[in-house]
Amino acid sequence: LIPMSEIASNADQLFPFPIFNSLRQKTPVRYDEARSCWDVFRYEDVHYILKNPKLFSSERGSGTLQGSILTMDPPRHTKMRNLVNKAFTPKAVKDLKNKIEEVTLYLLDQVNEKGTMDLVHNLAGPLPVIIIAELLGVPAKDRDLFKTYSDVLVAGAKDNSNEAFQRMAQKRKEGSEFIKEYFKKIILERKVNPEEDLISLLLAAKIDGEKLTEEEVLSFCVLLLVAGNETTTNLITNAVRYMTEDKNIQEQARTNLPLIPKLVEETLRFYPPIQAIGRVTKEQVKVGGKTIQKGEQVICWVASANRDEQKFAEPDRFTLERKLNPHLSFGFGIHFCLGAPLARLEAEVALVTLLSTFAKLEGVKGTELEAIPSPFVFGVKRLPLKFTRQ
Ligand code: HEM
Repeated sequence: LIPMSEIASNADQLFPFPIFNSLRQKTPVRYDEARSCWDVFRYEDVHYILKNPKLFSSERGSGTLQGSILTMDPPRHTKMRNLVNKAFTPKAVKDLKNKIEEVTLYLLDQVNEKGTMDLVHNLAGPLPVIIIAELLGVPAKDRDLFKTYSDVLVAGAKDNSNEAFQRMAQKRKEGSEFIKEYFKKIILERKVNPEEDLISLLLAAKIDGEKLTEEEVLSFCVLLLVAGNETTTNLITNAVRYMTEDKNIQEQARTNLPLIPKLVEETLRFYPPIQAIGRVTKEQVKVGGKTIQKGEQVICWVASANRDEQKFAEPDRFTLERKLNPHLSFGFGIHFCLGAPLARLEAEVALVTLLSTFAKLEGVKGTELEAIPSPFVFGVKRLPLKFTRQ
């Protein structure tokens, strides 16, 4: 899918929210000829679509994620999700807290003396990859190889041109073939000699006496990489980006670290790592008063829904004082993000560690941020920072 014509420049991609606000007022549900899809901008309508998998399907034809739970409908989705829930438990995630702290401190140690860093390259990029490798049971000796190829899987296009999108698709295909071969080897090894890792748990999990096939375990491993790495990188980066734009919030958070979970939730609402979620209509439906035929693509603009004045008081204000924050940034309903507890924990630990290690975090003057040119992902390619130590 190509980006919308309204959000084409780098400046607009870095801050598309006034455009979403205006589209939500003027055309809350509209068909876009250029992209051959429907756009939905209001909270209530996005919520309705995500809540109704019977009317709005997640099944998509091709790509890296084919055959994964993300692109599956019930009843198959229900069964598979129950199985993976068994392995991906809150306890398995909580047990990773010390590891996340240790890795964050190690990564920050590499830049501590310098006084500058690129947050994406030095912390927010590597952290989720190292943690997911740990969770899956990738042997330490393969970490670098693993990182190189998982980066390829989520690498964006260089620019908005057709050629750049095609080159990206080709690189992703090669990366995904490599990583599948790699996981196949580990899966076979764990089948014979199970260990205490997610792959071994997935191979052993049973529902109604049924197990996942090797192929299903494989596509789940790839899904974790694709769904979990770039998103978490962008959550951490977007939170720090916001704190460089609003010194007050940075001070509030630094002087009251227990507020960090609220900072993470408000970042998810305000600068959502995934700004849109796609579905396909399974029959003729009505959304926000408009009739949509069967088989149409519908794009739910989470980044707009999260700032809907019908749902949130002062939606364009970033505040740590919201009592309720029902943003849709992890989706809603049966496909609600499986990795949400892990993403939240990684972001919390990374931000607490950053704020307690460095006295002041500032953007670098004269460097214009560059948005990731993707219609679905909201983030920046690099975030150069200056800091002073505590
Ligand atoms: C699903 C966002 C991190 C694994 C989703 C969905 C969203 C989302 C919006 C729903 C998509 C849909 O309804 O079509 C995010 C964001 C993250 C994040 C914003 C970081 C801030 C992670 C992590 C993992 C993960 C760390 C795993 C390690 C998954 C999986 C699904 C999913 C497996 C599919 C669930 C299903 O279809 O039942 N995520 N995600 N995500 N996410 Fe995440």
